[in-house]
Amino acid sequence: MTKTAVITGAADGIGYELALLLAADAYRLLLVDKDSEKLLHVQHTLEYRFGSIVESYVIDLAVDGAAEQLFEHLKDMKVDVLINNAGFGVKGAFAETDWKQELALMQLHIITLTRLTKLLLQKMLQVHEGKILNVASTAAFQPGPYMAVYYASKSFILSFTRAVAQEVKGSGVTLTALCPGPTKTNFQKILGSDDSWLNRNKWLADADMVARYGYNAMLKGKAVAIPGYISRLIILIEHFLPISVVVALLQYFQKKNEPDRFEH
Ligand SMILES: NC(=O)c1ccc[n+]([C@@H]2O[C@H](COP(=O)([O-])OP(=O)(O)OC[C@H]3O[C@@H](n4cnc5c(N)ncnc54)[C@H](OP(=O)(O)O)[C@@H]3O)[C@@H](O)[C@H]2O)c1
Repeated sequence: MTKTAVITGAADGIGYELALLLAADAYRLLLVDKDSEKLLHVQHTLEYRFGSIVESYVIDLAVDGAAEQLFEHLKDMKVDVLINNAGFGVKGAFAETDWKQELALMQLHIITLTRLTKLLLQKMLQVHEGKILNVASTAAFQPGPYMAVYYASKSFILSFTRAVAQEVKGSGVTLTALCPGPTKTNFQKILGSDDSWLNRNKWLADADMVARYGYNAMLKGKAVAIPGYISRLIILIEHFLPISVVVALLQYFQKKNEPDRFEH
C-alpha cells in the first residue's frame, strides 16, 4: 500500500530535498509551506519527475492554532512519516532583536512542532508504525550568542525528540532529531549571512547531503542524526570543554564569521 508523508517547509532547502527522496521512494506526499507559488512549483516538479501523488497545503505554521488546522486537514489520512522541518533564524544581540520574529520562531519551532508530533504520534501508536523526523541543528548542543533564541529552540527540539523517542521504544514508532551544521540554503540568505566567512570559504554543507543523511537515519529509527564528520567532531570536542569556554568560543567565531555585524 502507498505510504503517506507530511513535510513542513517543503518548498525549499532541506525540506525540498527530503521531499525528493520520499517521492523517489514512491511516497504519497503532503507538502506544507507558507509560500503558495513555490509550493505549487515543487508539487509540479515532483509529479512530473516521479509521477508521485502530491498535495500542497499552504499555511503559516508560526501562528497559534496552525498545528490543529493542519491536523484537521489530514485527520482522515494514515500518515506514515511526519517531517517537522520548517524553520528560520533570528540573528543579533538579544537586547536588539525583533520580539515579533522571535515569538514566531518559538511558535514554529516549539509549539507547532510539539503539537503536531503529539497529534500524529497518537495516531501512529494506534497502528504500531510510523516515523517522525524533527529538524533541529548542531545549534542544539550549546547556547549561541547572537542567535540566542534560535539556539535555545533547537536545544528544545533535540531534548524533546530524544525523550519521546525513548518513551516509544519498541512500539513500532520512531522519532529522529536531525542536527545539520551550516547548510547551503535560503536560511543563510534570509539571515543575511551570505557574505559570511563560512560561506566565502565554502564551508557550508549541501542540502541534498544533509537530507539524505537525515532520511537514512529516520529509516533506521536512529534518535539523533548529525550529518558531516566535522560537525560530529566539533560536538565531541565541545563535550570535554567547560560550557563557559564553549559559549565564549562561539561568540568569538560569530564575530569572526561576520566581523561588521557584531561590534560589541
Ligand atoms: N541551512 C542551515 O544552515 C541550517 C542548519 C541547521 C538547521 N537548519 C534547519 O533546517 C530546517 C530547514 O531550513 P533550510 O535551511 O532548508 O531553510 P530554507 O531554505 O529557508 O527552507 C525553509 C522552508 O520553511 C518554510 N517556512 C519558514 N517559516 C515557515 C512558516 N512559518 N510556515 C510554513 N513554512 C515556513 C520556508 O518558507 P519561506 O521561504 O516562504 O520562508 C522555506 O520554504 C530549519 O528548521 C532550519 O532551522 C538549517
